[in-house]
Amino acid sequence: MTSLWKHGLEPATGTTFDAGASHDVVVVGAGITGLSTALMLVRSGFDVAVVERGDVAELATGSNTGKVSLLQGTTLSELRRHHPARLVRAYAEANRRGAEWVADTASELGVPSTRRTAYTYAQDAGGVSAVEDEHAAATEAGVETRVVGVDEMAQVPFPIARAIALDDQLALDPARFARALAAAFVAEGGRLHTRTPVRRVSVVGTPTVHTDAGDLSAHRVVLATATPIMDRGLYFAKTSGLRSSCVSFALDGDAFDGMYLSTDDPTRSIRVVRQGDGPVDAPQLIVGGAGHPVGREDSALALVEELVAWARRHLPVAEETHRWSAQDYRSHNLVPFVGTLPRSLGRVSFATGYAKWGLTNGPAAAMRLVSELRGEKLRDRPHWMTVIGTRMTVPADLAQGAVENASVAREAVRGWVDAESTAVPVPRPGDGEGIVAQRSGKPVGIATTGGVTRAVDAVCPHLGGVLSWNDLECTWDCPLHASRFAPDGTRIEGPAVADLRRLDDGARPTSV
Ligand SMILES: Cc1cc2nc3c(=O)[nH]c(=O)nc-3n(C[C@H](O)[C@H](O)[C@H](O)COP(=O)(O)OP(=O)(O)OC[C@H]3O[C@@H](n4cnc5c(N)ncnc54)[C@H](O)[C@@H]3O)c2cc1C
Ligand code: FES
Repeated sequence: MTSLWKHGLEPATGTTFDAGASHDVVVVGAGITGLSTALMLVRSGFDVAVVERGDVAELATGSNTGKVSLLQGTTLSELRRHHPARLVRAYAEANRRGAEWVADTASELGVPSTRRTAYTYAQDAGGVSAVEDEHAAATEAGVETRVVGVDEMAQVPFPIARAIALDDQLALDPARFARALAAAFVAEGGRLHTRTPVRRVSVVGTPTVHTDAGDLSAHRVVLATATPIMDRGLYFAKTSGLRSSCVSFALDGDAFDGMYLSTDDPTRSIRVVRQGDGPVDAPQLIVGGAGHPVGREDSALALVEELVAWARRHLPVAEETHRWSAQDYRSHNLVPFVGTLPRSLGRVSFATGYAKWGLTNGPAAAMRLVSELRGEKLRDRPHWMTVIGTRMTVPADLAQGAVENASVAREAVRGWVDAESTAVPVPRPGDGEGIVAQRSGKPVGIATTGGVTRAVDAVCPHLGGVLSWNDLECTWDCPLHASRFAPDGTRIEGPAVADLRRLDDGARPTSV
């Protein structure tokens, strides 16, 4: 499940961890948000350390489709349905600034990129009005989309009923871009600690970041962990964790151009990768989709198989080269959350909720965080920053949040009821399979991977959701707020900070 971008990439070079060291700012997370914030901060004269659980670009930042675009599917029209025009304009402007920063920084750091046309398209008549709405919202927001003519649509081999386009957007390799940001950060005096999970951040007295390698103190902490790893502000309940997958293929025939995203379901995201914008010798095609809320799909594997079958039906693809998955968080009011975490005494900042458009929203969030950390007055900040930073909750937000919270409540009950229905001992799961059963009234997760069967406590250490087995990635996923764990219980991502309790090594031959 390694992405095309990360395949063969050497681990990033970090710096020595000095337990007890103190910094102006400690940034937790080395994705696009953490690295762009960290680089902007060192360039503003701050002493900064970045602490990352895995490697640079470990999660979504190293596993997306590498489109740096202001045309983002139907984002602008969905925003416009719930928010005033000035907020949508501010969102577009934030993303324009983010995209410019990525383009300038990639060029400065020698990361190759190409200019492409981005398309939002309807697969059939059912999606046409959404395309038209996006064109209207984009035009109102100052994003110069154009309606695509029949001749241009005829150049692609997959079904298109209507499309709009935005020319001159950017395509790059997001993992190599992140590596370049990390290298520049270290070269300019930053401290980078990879393979260092953060378990807790305390804010009383001197803010302290508690890691598996020791503590670091700081004047300010930035949580760039996709969803904040502190519960203050309850952002885990104001966002939804959405997982989706990508498959890359060698091409059988001519490559068409552009970056495509459909308006209608099932969502199809398509991008050609060339030598100038990815780690390939010959053009490859990435197809993305198979989206679902984390932990709530019976078979993520079946969704990807369906995506692959669609690609083989409609695209000139030869052999599959990579498949991978990742998740991002959508805020219930559709606008990213960026700022200071409530009840953190003003000492912890965070950013989340990019709804799968973090390559532009991440650097834009970084600009806002850096402006706050520099103590810039509101009146000195750019107009888009003040507009997007002072939005109000409107009734539509509450409705969307209520629907999601009702789903969370349903999942919470369903997990416990399902676990009740099967008691241990159970037959040993086949390789790649996992099952939740009940042992003395408590849910136990039993899974076999690589020939090894393990049992873990299947109750999420965040807030008690019962985990479900992800048959595509062989992980335990939480349907409540999207935490994920390896088969041995090691935390991978999400608002949970602890690992799952390991119950035994499950070595019994026929049942567990
Ligand atoms: C399938 C898919 C395709 C996408 N395609 C695009 C696209 O084409 N264009 C676009 O703009 N956006 C795209 N996105 C969205 C984009 O990838 C994300 O919005 C963006 O990468 C989020 O960046 P981030 O830095 O906030 O989070 P992440 O990249 O998730 O980084 C968070 C980091 O924090 C670390 N971390 C978490 N907890 C801890 C802890 N306790 N201790 C230490 N470290 C920790 C993680 O290991 C991780 O490295 C896509 C998303 C998906 C899922
Ligand atoms: S992530 Fe909140 S309960 Fe699992």
